[in-house]
Amino acid sequence: MRRKLIAANWKMHKTPDEARAFVRDFAPLVANQNRDDIALFPPFISIPATIEAVAGTRIGVGAQNMHWEKQGAFTGEISAAMLICIGCSHVIIGHSERRQYFLETDVAVNRKLRGALEDGLLAIVCVGELFEERESGLTEGVLRRQVGAALREISGQDVDKFCIAYEPVWAIGTGKTATPQIASDAHAFIRAEAAKEIGDEAASKLRILYGGSVKPENAHDLMSQEQIDGALVGGASLDPKSFAAIVKW
Ligand code: PGA
Repeated sequence: MRRKLIAANWKMHKTPDEARAFVRDFAPLVANQNRDDIALFPPFISIPATIEAVAGTRIGVGAQNMHWEKQGAFTGEISAAMLICIGCSHVIIGHSERRQYFLETDVAVNRKLRGALEDGLLAIVCVGELFEERESGLTEGVLRRQVGAALREISGQDVDKFCIAYEPVWAIGTGKTATPQIASDAHAFIRAEAAKEIGDEAASKLRILYGGSVKPENAHDLMSQEQIDGALVGGASLDPKSFAAIVKW
């Protein structure tokens, strides 16, 4: 049985004060929820406030990005080692917004995953096709390329230290959700592609999250799919009640 992870990607939202206020309202709502793992991903500057606020709960805190080197002349970057030393446990790698707006490549995603594993952050590696790619029948080719590149030289022994998030770009922030069937098919395909890199046994343990307009109204249908091992939630994770409702799917 793969344990699900329900993750809140706050993107460029929430100051430290706003992050504290979120946790104050959210934590009591999910205090009795032990079924799935829960993690919050604030912007870098709000990570310490969030970590302080979740103390004593089982909510994990992570970053939305990292650099693969431990330190060096990389203006504007933050390393996995730095995140760990302030108490971060998770990191998102290769989100489609980073690929689209900040030109992050498949090679960079692989380096970041290797860096996260080396330093001990639980990584969520994002993959997913654009609308035009799906329309032109290129979905499988895109997922094959992204998964193959991300998992290059990654050992199956590390499978419990990372997840993949399938986030079709056409479903992110658009209100258009992949149907449970579309998501399940993509997840099964991703698992088969992952098996080529990390082996069948490890791939059967790999957690594959779904992301793209997950909301309280569709969380149950998506999360009850055998192939869907959690959710990466953007917009609907900004409100404590709405994210708590998703956690309680
Ligand atoms: P969304 O974002 O839930 O607002 O669609 C998901 C994500 O980008 O991780």
